[in-house]
Amino acid sequence: MKINLALIKGDGIGPEIVDSATRVLDAICKKYGHKIAYTNLLAGGCAIDAYGVPLMQSTVEAAMRSDSVLLGAVGGPKWDSLPGHLRPERALLGLRKELGLYANIRPVKLYKALSERCPLRNTESFDIVIVRELTGGIYFGKSGRTEGENGEEAFDTETYSVTEVERIGRTAFEYAMKRNKKVTSVDKANVLESSRLWREVMHTLAEEYREVEYSDMLVDNAAMQLIRNPMQFDVIVTSNMFGDILSDEASQLTGSIGLLPSASLGSNMRGMYEPIHGSAPDITGKGIANPIATILSAAMMLSYSFKLEKEAKNIETAVETVLNKGFFTADIGGKLTTDQITEKILEQI
Ligand code: IPM
Ligand code: MG
Repeated sequence: MKINLALIKGDGIGPEIVDSATRVLDAICKKYGHKIAYTNLLAGGCAIDAYGVPLMQSTVEAAMRSDSVLLGAVGGPKWDSLPGHLRPERALLGLRKELGLYANIRPVKLYKALSERCPLRNTESFDIVIVRELTGGIYFGKSGRTEGENGEEAFDTETYSVTEVERIGRTAFEYAMKRNKKVTSVDKANVLESSRLWREVMHTLAEEYREVEYSDMLVDNAAMQLIRNPMQFDVIVTSNMFGDILSDEASQLTGSIGLLPSASLGSNMRGMYEPIHGSAPDITGKGIANPIATILSAAMMLSYSFKLEKEAKNIETAVETVLNKGFFTADIGGKLTTDQITEKILEQI
């Protein structure tokens, strides 16, 4: 197979971790006889520096010509004081929207080797997938500032259509069918009309997927249940904003945000894959960032976009073996540098 991969290394530790991931991808492609070519694209803070805007239309078009996108991280203190529409984060939102990546898949699992780092007592293992709606809701609704009775006001709106809810719901149910057949839909239907529509649509889908054990959960309760007993969850499906919050919460249960990959998918095979952590300006350039989340994101890409299951599994097993041997980077209490842990993983491939 020949893969044309767009690389958006981005800011902060982005270039360091993407470089690790491409080394792993090169090794995998060599081993299994695939060809992989990379196109580097700028987005985020580095694009602001180079072009004055976080995301150029030409970058979107180049991403669309690629088979998939692997992204490091965007943002940093340097660009923090810019107005909303010029912030590096706009690049992420723009790419998601323009590429039609409505489904964000965030697997959150506790590795055996790291179970002591889980902040919860009596939790040995859990394996959750958060399916977050990514191109709708309050992130993309009408927003603005107006002059109200009591002076200046600001507003953001949460809107969801039946179509939007249905397609993300379907993604979640299909996922559950391949896993433990359990879907928890998280909403705030006791308050929000958009959540009541969300719930109606999910119930219709649940009728269709009778084999799946379905339940609704209010988001405040879900935030609590994740801490009380994460083992109760299999697939969680939720809106853009709730998914943003709950996935950060859940990530902490694994003991390190440096291990968690993500996939953003649309209606075709092209996806955008990225670690769920940020650009970590505090450790940028030190060569100590944990590249595992990005390496695992590359594995998700091989599986989801290219159906290269063996190859993906090989990477996942390599990572797990390295962790089981106690090789850790600093974020999880180890001493290995980015380069050293990458070497360890390469040895397993
Ligand atoms: C994420 C991030 C982004 C989001 C930000 C950087 C715009 O927090 O991917 O979870 O809110 O979606
Ligand atoms: Mg987030």
